[in-house]
Formats: sequence, C-alpha cells, structure tokens
Amino acid sequence: MAASARLVLLGPPGAGKGTQAQLLEQEFGAVQISTGDILRKAVADQTPLGKQAGDYLKRGALVPDDVIINLIAERLQQNDCAKGFVLDGFPRTIPQAESLDVILKKLALSLNCVLSVQVPREVIIERLAGRRTCKKCGALSHVVFEPQRQPGVCDRCGGELLQRDDDREETIANRLTVYDAQTAPLVDYYRRQGALREIDGVGSIGDIRARVMTALGGLVS
Ligand code: AP5
Repeated sequence: MAASARLVLLGPPGAGKGTQAQLLEQEFGAVQISTGDILRKAVADQTPLGKQAGDYLKRGALVPDDVIINLIAERLQQNDCAKGFVLDGFPRTIPQAESLDVILKKLALSLNCVLSVQVPREVIIERLAGRRTCKKCGALSHVVFEPQRQPGVCDRCGGELLQRDDDREETIANRLTVYDAQTAPLVDYYRRQGALREIDGVGSIGDIRARVMTALGGLVS
C-alpha cells in the first residue's frame, strides 16, 4: 500500500497541512516534504539557500519560484521518495504547479490526489497563535488543542518547544494575503485536472484525519 502515495496538501497557513502530512507519513510510509521546514532549516544553518530565503520567511512572502522549483526537482529524485511523498507547502503558485507537472512527467510519476484543506480565518489565527514546534524532532503541538504534559517540552522526545518567527500577528496577516492572491488559484487548477479532493478542516485533528482517509479511499493503493 505504502509504495504509491503521491499527494499534495493544499491550504492556507494553519490549515493543518503539516499535522496531517505527519499522520500520512505514518500511515503510508511516504516521506513528508515540507518546503517551509526545508527553508527554516536552511535559515537556521545559514546555508546559501537560507541566506537567500531568510528575509522572505520573515516577511511572510513567497521565496522566488525558481529557487523552490529547483529545490523540489532535486528533492523528488532522492531515494526515499520512491516510497511515496506528501508535498506540504508546495506548490504555492501556478508556475510552481506547472513545473511540478513537468518534473513528475520526467520521473514518469503522477499525483494520486491533491487534498485541499479549508478553514476560516478566525480558526487559522487561533491555531497559529498557539502553535509550537519541537526544536529536536519537529513534532507539532498546540498550547490549547494539543497541550504537552509539561509546558514548553515535547511529549515525544523531551525537546524544547519553540514558537515560529512568522507566527506573529502582522506576519500572519501578510501570509494570508499572499495565500489568497497566489496560492488559492491552485484549487481551480487542480479541480480542472480532476485531481482535487476538498476537505473541511474544522474539527479535531482526529476528525480531519478521518476525512482525509475517506477522501483518499481507493486513490492510494
Ligand atoms: P510553511 O511552513 O509551508 O507555512 P504555511 O503554509 O504558512 O503553513 P503552516 O506551516 O503555517 O500551517 P499548516 O497548514 O502546516 O498547519 P499546522 O499543521 O502547522 O511556509 C512558511 C514560509 O516558507 C512561507 O511563508 C514562505 O516564505 C516559505 N515557503 C514555503 N513553501 C514555499 C513555496 N512553495 N514557495 C515559496 N515560498 C515558500 O497546524 C497549525 C497549528 O494548529 C499547530 O499548532 C497544530 O497543532 C494545530 N492544529 C492542526 N490541526 C488542528 C485541528 N484540526 N484542530 C486543532 N488544532 C490543530
């Protein structure tokens, strides 16, 4: 079953893409590819990519398409992607989606499904304001919706929990504007391709997981 999960998770900041991608990784053995995580690590490590991307992340703006497309083209050729992949945060613009079509065609692959997870703005703000990420293992949690046994400490590995720099109010507002202008059109793009499944992202993490699995029924085998 695991070998052929090739999925895209689409949705605004805070929709729960990363949370569901981590669950799908466990379910199907497919590798989660989060462009946001890759970029944040590059910034932390001060690599050339990180130096180029840092200012965009800080502002909540999109990193230029050519940078991201090259990154994904390389990433999808790595051996672990043979187990399948869950793209989390890519594509984010029409040129990125068109490039993904070309990259997959060259690899003789196609997507099983694009899952669009939608949540209203007030829920997004609530989720982002309370989000915490483990510095050590990358696990996601939330101070209200997924509280850890000891505040500030990851239940899974005991690592320190951090708040993302771009989860400040003014940056969140910019990320939402960018999403509406540049990423929301991808819903129609994939609907036209017949690849889209739409999911109501309001509810518990378990509720959304169940909806995701229902939406994927028969598509990943
Ligand atoms: P990225 O890291 O991709 O951020 P994002 O798309 O804004 O999405 P988030 O990670 O904020 O939210 P999510 O949907 O994953 O929600 P999560 O599961 O964490 O990108 C960051 C930046 O990198 C961009 O601004 C841009 O600069 C750059 N970048 C990245 N990709 C790029 C690209 N392709 N092109 C150009 N630039 C790019 O959940 C949020 C919180 O809610 C968590 O605390 C979680 O525990 C909680 N939660 C989740 N689900 C539920 C639920 N059902 N109920 C209650 N709480 C929940």
